[in-house]
Amino acid sequence: MTELLIRGAKQVVTLAGPARPRLKQEMRELSIIEDGAVLTRDEQIVAVGKQNEVRNLASPLAEQIDAGGCVVMPGFVDAHTHPVYAGTREDEYEMRAEGYTYQQIAERGGGILSTVRKTRAASEDELFELAIPRLRLMLEHGTTTAEAKSGYGLSVEDELKILRVIRRLDESQEIDLVPTFLGAHEVPEEYRASREDYLDLVTKEMLPAVASQKLARYADVFCETRIFSVEEARRVLSRAATLGLGLRAHVEQLSLSGGAELCAQLKAASADHLEWVDDDGVNALQRSGVIALLLPGAVFNLGLVQYAPARKLIDAGVPVGLATAFNPGSSPTPSMQLVMSIACAQMKMTPAEAVSASTINPAYSLGLGASIGSIEPGKRADIVVYDCADYRQIPYLFGVNHASTVIKGGRVVYVRRS
Ligand code: NIG
Repeated sequence: MTELLIRGAKQVVTLAGPARPRLKQEMRELSIIEDGAVLTRDEQIVAVGKQNEVRNLASPLAEQIDAGGCVVMPGFVDAHTHPVYAGTREDEYEMRAEGYTYQQIAERGGGILSTVRKTRAASEDELFELAIPRLRLMLEHGTTTAEAKSGYGLSVEDELKILRVIRRLDESQEIDLVPTFLGAHEVPEEYRASREDYLDLVTKEMLPAVASQKLARYADVFCETRIFSVEEARRVLSRAATLGLGLRAHVEQLSLSGGAELCAQLKAASADHLEWVDDDGVNALQRSGVIALLLPGAVFNLGLVQYAPARKLIDAGVPVGLATAFNPGSSPTPSMQLVMSIACAQMKMTPAEAVSASTINPAYSLGLGASIGSIEPGKRADIVVYDCADYRQIPYLFGVNHASTVIKGGRVVYVRRS
């Protein structure tokens, strides 16, 4: 038995509360314990409370972490990432600075398809090695669970290759990964003249192979003007549902298409992006309880101005989450801390709402709300110590990594060198 006592915390931000996603005002209720401590035993949290009470429960042999004056929070749950790919796209970053848009770059052969070309050319081992430092960076910034999508293969063989890499990564590094199949991320070059055939390939070959090999828990689709229409997305997601996969979708990112309503109709686990969602879409999400996963890092990095209407979504009672969308094009950041900063400054979320949206709500979007996302007895000991005295400093003092110690499953997996 291994015990760990995290003691002396200025604030333990527990997020203890109802066993469901947090809505409206609940997103501001973080259940903070001042002068707190957390006791973990093996992989689980066994006690959290005032330090003098929790201390008495620890065995004399417990390993101790001095969190004196610091903030202690549950690990971030980053529920939208694309971490397995080859190559980088700083050339496109420079082009955007020169005035080209994301869509113009894609029309010139850049964008998702440029990463597809490089990813297809890479071996499984190469992709595995390339992803390790990316996940390490995420961990060092406080992320302890992440969803991970395929989507840069776009052939049966290459999509399965990426999903196998995600499985190996999940087994071999510290962050828990939840795999998502995104074969409908784009129409690949060789199917440009026959997109129907590509949809057949996705629904009749890729999805059955992914499901039978149990390589993904969710299926996703990029529903967007000039990518996949609402009806095409419906076809992919409906087929995925019949094969037992949960559903997520990129919707209303660059234009309004009605994808939010589709997510509501299909009872998707999350509707992601939503920059252009309208009132009908907001109401449909609210009625269905679909979690809105907002990705403001992509808006910021693409130099756009249309952020998702976070205030409207929260005030309407839609459960809201935040994610990095970590990928080589629109959002190459591993940092949920930075995403919180952008969410507060640009979408007018309060720091407390941003914390709920980065922990407990995305945990529920991945079906993991009962085991992660808050610091409560019985939950997995995924805990991060931040080198600041108030949780609001995490988004406020932006552009730096506040995480000083990361604990995954009761084990210290990162300590910042001073
Ligand atoms: O979530 N929008 C689609 N997918 C990613 C971008 C992928 C890329 O540009 O390579 C996103 O922003």
